[in-house]
Amino acid sequence: MIDNYLNKIIYGDCLNIFRDIPDNSVDITFADPPFNLNKKYHSTKDNLKLLEYLDWCEKWLNEMVRVTKPTGSIFVHNIPKWLTYYASFLNKNAYFKHWISWDAPSAPMGKTLQPSHYGILFYAKESKDNKFYEIRYRHKRCRKCNYLYKDYGGKKAGLHPFGPLVSDVWTDIHRVKHNKYRDEHPCQLPIHLLERIILMSTDENDIVLDPFSGTGTTAIAAKRLGRNYVGIEFDNEYVQISENKLKQEESNSKIDDIWVSFFLRDIVTIRDKDWDKLSKTFIIPENIANIDKSVIIPKNGKNNSYILKKERIDDLPIFIRQQ
Ligand SMILES: C[S@@+](CC[C@H](N)C(=O)[O-])C[C@H]1O[C@@H](n2cnc3c(N)ncnc32)[C@H](O)[C@@H]1O
Repeated sequence: MIDNYLNKIIYGDCLNIFRDIPDNSVDITFADPPFNLNKKYHSTKDNLKLLEYLDWCEKWLNEMVRVTKPTGSIFVHNIPKWLTYYASFLNKNAYFKHWISWDAPSAPMGKTLQPSHYGILFYAKESKDNKFYEIRYRHKRCRKCNYLYKDYGGKKAGLHPFGPLVSDVWTDIHRVKHNKYRDEHPCQLPIHLLERIILMSTDENDIVLDPFSGTGTTAIAAKRLGRNYVGIEFDNEYVQISENKLKQEESNSKIDDIWVSFFLRDIVTIRDKDWDKLSKTFIIPENIANIDKSVIIPKNGKNNSYILKKERIDDLPIFIRQQ
């Protein structure tokens, strides 16, 4: 019964735990597996032989598809090299939707192109009736002068006040770099990356399963957005870190009754279908063309149910700090 696992981080090997999870029982599965790049985890060997690694990956990918509901989606994050293999496995029993390119530069390796994106494979369990919501992100602006980066010429008045629809190239979410935000984990993902995925593929109270939970990023995003989570993690220390963090989280990432994703004090992802209601909570210039130089701001920013942790205020861009 999936109910026994809801809103827990289960300590164990995901292939063992998957055996107890019924077919078609969760709304989405998201995996950020070990990259087999010899990273320094506490308990996992991250340097398997190629065929051993791929054979293992095919097993948990099949399990992800099996437990996902017919309306649900399967997401897998990794470097492009491994995603090419994963896609060939997933193509056998799920439906390709997108290869999301997450712009996240890493160190130059020399003698080859500098790797500058991670990929997120997005598959639907069935070709019809896949649950999906269009989402929007904020217009990109100059950090210092606040102007829109892109020159829309004479088309500014037709801009969406909040921001463009999200495409399959994500450039506005940065890797977790500052040590003060990191746990003792070599590859923690940003929470608002997972929030974006959850907002576009699930509804309130849906179930999100992550078989490689790490320090609980997916579970935290799900909890903040009022979804149920199931995390599986092989390393007890990461399980403890996740549980401690989850105790401090609330399901309150919303404006009025609308779930949104925040980063620091800014709203970074919304659902397109929520804009009519959300727009009433923002101060929007009458002439939309003026958003060229001014950010739309929540009317009631300080009373939002989401509370910014104090230590993060210094990291805000100046124009948001002064609101
Ligand atoms: C790339 S990390 C995931 C990081 C996670 N997305 C986060 O933001 O914290 C992969 C995780 O999978 C765990 N792991 C490796 N093999 C596992 C297995 N067979 N079952 C469950 N967890 C496993 C590792 O301990 C590691 O924490």
